[in-house]
Amino acid sequence: MKIILFGAPGSGKGTQADMLAKEFDLEKISLGDILRQEVKKESDLGREVKQYMDKGELVPDSTVKDVIDANLAEDNFILDGYPRNGQQAQTLNDILKKRDSSIDAFIYLDVSQETIVDRLSKRRVCKKCGANYHLNTMPPKEDNICDQCSAELVQRDDDTPEVIKKRWNVFLANSKEVFDFYKKKNVFISVDGDQDKEKVFEQVKEKLEAREQ
Ligand code: AP5
Repeated sequence: MKIILFGAPGSGKGTQADMLAKEFDLEKISLGDILRQEVKKESDLGREVKQYMDKGELVPDSTVKDVIDANLAEDNFILDGYPRNGQQAQTLNDILKKRDSSIDAFIYLDVSQETIVDRLSKRRVCKKCGANYHLNTMPPKEDNICDQCSAELVQRDDDTPEVIKKRWNVFLANSKEVFDFYKKKNVFISVDGDQDKEKVFEQVKEKLEAREQ
């Protein structure tokens, strides 16, 4: 199965991608995570992309194309954070076509702006392993300490109110062309992402299983 998870910043793409990867034994490919690792390593790529990420802007399509091409599994994957505009959707289509392959499902997590601001301003991530928490809905057992590796929890650099607003606007400006692309391919699935993570997961699972029958 080859799945794309799409949604506004904070819509729960990373959270659902982890759950779906486990349930369906898929490889999770998160472009945001890959780029953040490059920033952490201070590689040439990391230095190039940091300037865009810190401002909440999209990294140029030509740069992320090579990253996706190099990291895309042959089959059984879930893509979190790619594509984000019509050009990237076309690029992904071309990459897959060369492999005689195509996307099976495009899942849109539909959330309100109010939910996004709440989720991102209260998100905390582990400095070491990247595990995700929310101060109210998914708090760590011990304040500011990761349940999984005991490292410190921090706020992401792009989770400031100003950058959240920019990321939301970038999403609004690009989402329609992505929707149109996958609606035409007949793989579009929309889910109410405002519910708690288990309910969202159940809905996604039901809709995916219904497609397979
Ligand atoms: P990326 O890291 O992909 O950020 P994003 O799209 O803004 O999404 P987030 O990771 O912030 O949120 P999410 O939807 O994964 O939600 P999460 O599960 O964490 O990209 C960062 C940057 O990289 C971009 O701005 C850009 O610069 C660059 N980039 C990436 N891809 C690119 C591309 N294709 N082209 C160009 N540039 C690119 O959940 C958020 C919070 O809510 C967490 O605290 C979580 O615990 C909580 N939560 C999740 N689900 C629920 C729920 N159902 N109920 C309650 N709380 C929930």
